[in-house]
Amino acid sequence: MVLDVKNLSVGLGTKDNQKLILNQVNFSVKRGETVAIVGESGCGKSMTALTVMGLLPEPVVSLVSGEILLQGKNLTNLSQKEMNKVRGKDVAMIFQEPMTTLNPSFTIGNQLGEIFKIHSNLNSEEIRKKCIEMLTKVKIPDPEAKLKVYPHQLSGGMRQRVVIAMALACNPKVIIADEPTTALDVTIQAQILDLLVELQTQFNTTVILITHDLGVVAETCQRAIVMYAGQVVEEGSVEELFEHPQHPYTKGLMDSIPRLGDARGKLHVIKGSVPDMDAMPQGCRFNPRCEVATDICRKEAPELEITSDGRRVRCWHKL
Ligand SMILES: Nc1ncnc2c1ncn2[C@@H]1O[C@H](COP(=O)(O)OP(=O)(O)OP(=O)(O)O)[C@@H](O)[C@H]1O
Ligand SMILES: [Mg+2]
Repeated sequence: MVLDVKNLSVGLGTKDNQKLILNQVNFSVKRGETVAIVGESGCGKSMTALTVMGLLPEPVVSLVSGEILLQGKNLTNLSQKEMNKVRGKDVAMIFQEPMTTLNPSFTIGNQLGEIFKIHSNLNSEEIRKKCIEMLTKVKIPDPEAKLKVYPHQLSGGMRQRVVIAMALACNPKVIIADEPTTALDVTIQAQILDLLVELQTQFNTTVILITHDLGVVAETCQRAIVMYAGQVVEEGSVEELFEHPQHPYTKGLMDSIPRLGDARGKLHVIKGSVPDMDAMPQGCRFNPRCEVATDICRKEAPELEITSDGRRVRCWHKL
């Protein structure tokens, strides 16, 4: 395993008045695979990513317990300074909006070069060559000239390519992409995703892809982790999850995918909404919205159970 996330709990607020945003999140990712994290808005996908990156908005949100092992090294024990060395080099993140990463006042060459300055011993000419090489890899036309431009001189799609180049610069073991294409035009979205998949194969990087788009999951990912209300509720191969979801929540997500031929029919939606942290239901967190819930679901919280090789489900009434 390249990444092991163990019993991760993350809290909002101070110790005496803390609410858990993430509750005992567990998952592992193998070298070279593309894993999706899916779930409705507010389920904790981005918080999981930020925790792995050591980028929680502290002190408002902070790590309560758990371990994050990157090739066996526990990132949660690292100081901010040590984490700065890991971030960008061993694990990198691509955010939804490229300008979260890019600084408007520096040129592309400057910002990309900075990564090599921090994480390598290359001299300035070697860094320049590396920057051109990376921009070529992400298929930015005329890379040499692009080193001198500022982010606002590029289109959104080109900016996200620069961000991908920055993420890949040091050949990190893991890249976390949090809705990397949501802010882009539909045609550009597909190009960026294709590029990510192509580079992932070429570099054998592990990619964790956070997305709302289950079509994208089906096309690009081998496995998926389904989160609900700060917990992992199901995990399995994409094929298994799409063909035979075992958790009613996963099934609800799958049923809400628009399919060809369904154009006139009404789309299935999961009734209700993700519970508020202040009003977490007793028992299974999904029970108020679940069509198969019974008494036990309203009383006792189910554990995440291993049902078969690599398949895990948190439900009293697996489908
Ligand atoms: N900066 C913050 N301060 C306090 N609470 C936050 C902050 N960011 C997120 N939260 C809360 O943490 C929980 C998980 O949010 P998170 O952003 O991880 O959801 P998400 O699954 O990424 O949703 P989306 O699909 O909308 O991006 C939510 O209840 C959210 O309100
Ligand atoms: Mg998010």
